[in-house]
Amino acid sequence: MEARSRDTPIEVTRIGAVGRGVPGERPPGPKEIPLVGNPRIFERDSLAAFIDTARTYGDTVSYHIGPQLVFLLTHPDDIAQVVLGEQSKFMKGALTHELSGFLGRGLVTSEGRFWRRQRKIAAPSFTRRHIEKFADTMVVCSRRALGTMHPGVRNVHVDMMEMTLDIVLETVFGHAEVPDISAVGPLVETMMEGFHRAYLSWRRLLPRLAMKRTHDALADARVQLDEIFYGIIKQRRAQADYGDDLLGRLLAARDDDGTGMTDEQVRDEVATIFLAGHETTALSLSFAMLLLAEHPDAQARARAEVDQVLGERPATMQDVRRLPYVEAVLKESMRVLPPVYLFGREALEDVEIAGWVIPRGTQVLTPVCAIHKDARWYDDPDRFVPERWLDGLADRLPKYAYLPFGAGARVCVGNHFAMLEGILGLATLLQRLEFAPDPDFELQLLTSVTLRPKGGVSVRVSRRRDRA
Ligand code: HEM
Repeated sequence: MEARSRDTPIEVTRIGAVGRGVPGERPPGPKEIPLVGNPRIFERDSLAAFIDTARTYGDTVSYHIGPQLVFLLTHPDDIAQVVLGEQSKFMKGALTHELSGFLGRGLVTSEGRFWRRQRKIAAPSFTRRHIEKFADTMVVCSRRALGTMHPGVRNVHVDMMEMTLDIVLETVFGHAEVPDISAVGPLVETMMEGFHRAYLSWRRLLPRLAMKRTHDALADARVQLDEIFYGIIKQRRAQADYGDDLLGRLLAARDDDGTGMTDEQVRDEVATIFLAGHETTALSLSFAMLLLAEHPDAQARARAEVDQVLGERPATMQDVRRLPYVEAVLKESMRVLPPVYLFGREALEDVEIAGWVIPRGTQVLTPVCAIHKDARWYDDPDRFVPERWLDGLADRLPKYAYLPFGAGARVCVGNHFAMLEGILGLATLLQRLEFAPDPDFELQLLTSVTLRPKGGVSVRVSRRRDRA
């Protein structure tokens, strides 16, 4: 495709059929099997299936998963309608509601007035200004991870899961002196494994009884985690000063009328931060490392920037804006391999979008992975090219054509946190390490709540020879 001018906004064109506003008419979609619906959910590479489906049928696609009608929307204008213009006609999708078994009524899972109040109380703790205070903690944890990443072929996703857990524990509970805090990591892991096993695309079709062992393990982990979380909350409430870690801020946060959160609400938000903020950031970093290993030129450029800005000293908050290439690497990694590859809503009433009437109860999916690979918005969309972010692409893109953190009212509240952690974490790793491909490794992706690398992310890691 011809390279586009730097100054012109990218034109928002539409592909595929537009409806006529007739109830019952459906946009095109893959051929279906009776009772099962779209057979592509059984495909090994279901990420490719989403991308391919959008490329084949256009901006509005429909199909069934079992008896459930699904609409797949990939046009930025239609996404705007769902997440902003007509957001009151939608609630979070079925999968998100499954998560409420563990997350309770935290920000990710709650709805309506309750969600609005929680978001208003919690959001100030996640502003850029507040998150900046965690920069040093993030660097300390990243340097700690460096100490454990011995040279050789490594599953760097395990390394990044440990690193981001360390960061989330330090930033949420930094001031807690709780003996059983070390149990939180394994329990959160159990929870996430359980979710992924139970809700991996096609397994959602199975009756709950078929997944009984998994659901029992999830319930057990929840009981144990609750004991720890409530213990910490109680202990902190008893203190005169709540402290300035995220827990302290949530405890101190007040609504306009001066009311704060109950212990249960704080617990739900803490659990939400653990689940929403730990694996997602680990994925963004693991994928960035893999892509840098596969693109030595980009790796050399990122390292040169890190060397020039940081040398051997630890990174600080002030360095972040001086690392534009490292930031571009992260942005491009999340374009190519978005940790949250899809988000969904459920229509609360009939809604007309792109001329199609979406019936009440339909699951409306936004396949971020397919939108990020759309040649209308991105030149050479399948290639990893961090440079594309350096010449103002973000300003030229149609709004909602880049959505790693979602969009609209329910956009990720932790996006500044994640970007700061990603830039500081990746820069710290590049100070000491080099990444090369593992010739025996091929990335296999599982589409669950997040984009999970089956068998991890294997990369050959070596210590930089020019560094002690
Ligand atoms: C690279 C890392 C991350 C990615 C890719 C990511 C992605 C997302 C996406 C796509 C959504 C919107 C889902 C939807 O609309 O259905 C979301 C929501 C959310 N994220 Fe993140 N996230 C990341 C990191 C974090 C971190 C670090 C935190 C907390 C410290 C966090 C907390 C949340 C919360 C609480 C919500 C729900 C917001 C609401 O509905 O009000 N996320 N995230």
